[in-house]
Amino acid sequence: MTLQISSEIVKKLSAIVGDAYVFTDIDTRNHYGHDETEDYVFPPGVVVKPGTPQEISAILKLASQHLIPVTTIGARTGLSGGALSIYEGIGLAMDRFNKILHIDEQNLQVTVEPAVITQVLRESVAEKGLFYPPDPSSQGSCWIGGNVAENAGGARAVKYGVTKDYVLNLEVVLANGEIIWTGANTLKNSTGYNLTQLMVGSEGTLGVITKIVMKLLPQHSHNVLMLVPFFKAEEACEAVSAIFRAGVMPSALEFMERDAIDWTLKFVEGLNVNVSDNIQAHLLIEVDGNYPDILFQEAEKIMSVVEKFEIDEVLFADTEDQKNALWKMRRSVAEAVKSNSIYKEEDTVVPRYELAKLLSGIKSIGKKYGFQSVCYGHAGDGNLHVNIVKGDMPDEAWKTEVTKGIREIFELTVSLKGTLSGEHGIGYVQKNYMDIAFNETQLHLMKGIKTIFDPKGILNPGKIFPDNV
Ligand code: LAC
Ligand code: ZN
Repeated sequence: MTLQISSEIVKKLSAIVGDAYVFTDIDTRNHYGHDETEDYVFPPGVVVKPGTPQEISAILKLASQHLIPVTTIGARTGLSGGALSIYEGIGLAMDRFNKILHIDEQNLQVTVEPAVITQVLRESVAEKGLFYPPDPSSQGSCWIGGNVAENAGGARAVKYGVTKDYVLNLEVVLANGEIIWTGANTLKNSTGYNLTQLMVGSEGTLGVITKIVMKLLPQHSHNVLMLVPFFKAEEACEAVSAIFRAGVMPSALEFMERDAIDWTLKFVEGLNVNVSDNIQAHLLIEVDGNYPDILFQEAEKIMSVVEKFEIDEVLFADTEDQKNALWKMRRSVAEAVKSNSIYKEEDTVVPRYELAKLLSGIKSIGKKYGFQSVCYGHAGDGNLHVNIVKGDMPDEAWKTEVTKGIREIFELTVSLKGTLSGEHGIGYVQKNYMDIAFNETQLHLMKGIKTIFDPKGILNPGKIFPDNV
């Protein structure tokens, strides 16, 4: 691989995209060299901002010819380091692909470029009475292309599914420069291998996504939101599967440990939520639909389930402002933890009934290796974000003990029939744990797919696969 970018290469890149879109200064390279993953910074050797799929095609042909690593870079909100240019090379910044190309109101579909902010997409289709459900906490800043690349989820995934469930068809530039569509703009498709879904979640290792066709739903009109405080965190986990077994399908079912709430209340100004001293965890539960009467009946059913556990007074959000405040609190947890201490974020996921076992296991592992963790996440999906907090832990223990502890957490997750990541991806930081989830045969199948798409290994090298595979 060519790790250094020569002036010859810079000239050739300028000839493709124009001088104004090639950046070699250190400020721009640093800017595109980090995402939201811990404090990593890996500046690309050169940042290029192409404007068309044809320009990307020319860049990839050049990169193939000279064996230059190419890392596709989006909004840099990722939590697994998927967009970090760990081998320098070309940073392909997608900023100029920022248009919603077509909202198809007849078919309930949208065709969008990857650099559209997820919330902008959600609001634009909502203006037409349509609903794009996936809502990662970073929806106000993340891009839809990154959501597809990492198969992002969010709070509404429990009822509506994750990004993959909305992707119908993709325009992709392949490593050799060819431009293809992966499927068809249909809701059903049993035609050969599913190249579309292979691209979803492939973290920039199989091609560069330049257009995305997504399905939409009709927008519903009402929701009910409640915050349930539990005296015991494990009972909050147990209540989660009990709610589904009672016949209710919540549109969100989120778990927050006590510390997650306390730290967030300190971090976000103006949030007015009272938490009694001996509360250990909260569930934030939403139901949605078009008929308020039915939603209230469902909320009552949820009450009858949670009342079987030791809970404090339940807060029903009466106004839009109160609902927004509760969601703001939930969405700010990651940032609040980050502002408090150096931390590592794991994205464990298990079948939802195993959540209580996962939580208590994580706490015992923390005790064994001497670290504190703050857990929160999409409990309805069995998806628990585990923030391991450095606090005043010595640097040496942070490196060695925490790495052992994380390995044990993942082993526990897999033993509960779960896996390493529910929605953040493997990227750079989780790759050396992949052997816990997959054996050699499985990893070689994946590697074989990678080699067919990218025989020279130029696309986002150093991601997903463990260093020794
Ligand atoms: C969340 C992000 C971190 O759930 O996935 O807030
Ligand atoms: Zn999440």
